[in-house]
Order: sequence, then structure tokens, then C-alpha cells
Amino acid sequence: IPVNVFKTSEEASKFVARQVADLIKSRQASNKHCVLGLATGSTPTRVYAELVNMHKSEGLSFRNVYTFNLDEYYPMQPDSLQSYVRFMNEHLFNHIDIPKQNIHIPDGTLSKDKVADFCREYENKIDQLGGIDIQILGIGRTGHIGFNEPGSSEKSLTRLVTLDQVTRIDAASDFFGEENVPRKAITMGVGSIMKARKVFMMAWGEGKASVIKKAVEGPITDHIPSSFLQKHADCLVVLDEASSSELV
Ligand code: F6R
Repeated sequence: IPVNVFKTSEEASKFVARQVADLIKSRQASNKHCVLGLATGSTPTRVYAELVNMHKSEGLSFRNVYTFNLDEYYPMQPDSLQSYVRFMNEHLFNHIDIPKQNIHIPDGTLSKDKVADFCREYENKIDQLGGIDIQILGIGRTGHIGFNEPGSSEKSLTRLVTLDQVTRIDAASDFFGEENVPRKAITMGVGSIMKARKVFMMAWGEGKASVIKKAVEGPITDHIPSSFLQKHADCLVVLDEASSSELV
């Protein structure tokens, strides 16, 4: 699995943002749209800041862009402090010219009986738009991508999942206590991610070094769902020096 190590996460984020911008512009040149798969969390924030910069300083337009976010807590109100709707608006969507109707984020407000239909429809929408061109990923300490925790199968699609204890502990500070972290989430599946034409999996800092080693060099196993990316035809792992420090 190819790995690109940059000196800093800033340089790495600029690289990824440039790839995204190049795709958007090449599609614009032929009057076509593109589809981005997006992540939240601390890892992609600089990529989004860079894209906002390019919109403001270079006139990069997002009018031909469709987005699908990986996941959302369940239950979750969009206006909550911790919602991924709010996160995406604040870090990206409020600052660019993407049409609102092109934005897709799993709906944390649905009643339980509506979730399965919603998830099926989420997959259908991605397929109808021609599939994801570029998928942006972070990685959790459990080896999760999206909220595909250990045990997630390679073919899994968008669905309601139970969050791992480690993931809930990592989210505790955002929720002012672990007891406030939702127990569930709606996430695109490993299979949904594997269908993307190109994947950038990013990780920064020494806290991610050991899980990156497992994902990149370890056996392909559902104990580390990110390890399935070793089978992806076009996945680049984008690291800073600290997160790459355990790779041989
Ligand atoms: C978020 C997501 C998660 C995060 C992962 C890393 O949409 O899908 O898989 O990418 O938990 O989170 P950070 O970047 O905060 O370390």
C-alpha cells in the first residue's frame, strides 16, 4: 500500500487539498460533476481550510461538487455542538459555493424504523451520481475508518453501528464526559469506502503511529477495518513523520 510521508501535517494537508482541487477543476473543464467522500474529526480540518483558501484566493468553485460524509452520531440533532453537520458547515460548507442540495450527511434525527431505508437510499444516491471519486479518511485508534469499528466486514454498507468503547473515550472531551457520547452512529461501510475510485487515508501525530503500522503493514483483518484498504486499487496513505514512525 503506497505511503507518502510529509514533514508536517500542514504540508500533507496541502498535498491532499491540491489533489481534490485538481479533480474538481478537471471535471469543470469538461462540464462534469465530481463526488467527494468526506470525513470529520481533527485530521481533515487543514485540508478543508486549504480548500476554503483556494476558493477565496484562487476562485476554486464547488458548484459541480457533490459530497457524502462518512458518518454521524446517532441520535444527533444537526444544531448540536458535536454534530457532524455543524462541523462540516463550520469547517467547509459555510465558506464555499457548494449548492446546499449537493451535500449529504447521514441523518442523526431519524426514528429507528426509518434508518435502514435511509441507509439504502444513501448508497443509491452515491451510485446514481457515478460513485465517489475521492474519499478522504482519518483513522481511529481502534483502526476504524468512518465508524467501522473492529468486526466490521469488508462488504459492509451504510448502516447503524455501535461505537467502540475506545472511540467513545476519544470523543468524551467533545461531549463533556464519556457518559454523554452517543452509543451509536450511522456510518458508510467498509464496502462503501472500498468502492471509491481513489482514497486518501491521513493520520497525524505519534498517537496514530501504532494503528497506522497495523493498518498498513499488519494482516488484513476485520480486527483492524482500515487494513482492508491494503486491497484497494488506488489508496494513498498520507502521513506526517510522527504517525509514520513505527513503519519499517
Ligand atoms: C470521522 C470519521 C472517523 C475519524 C477518526 C479519526 O468522520 O470517520 O473515522 O476519521 O475517528 O478522528 P480524528 O481525526 O479526530 O483523530
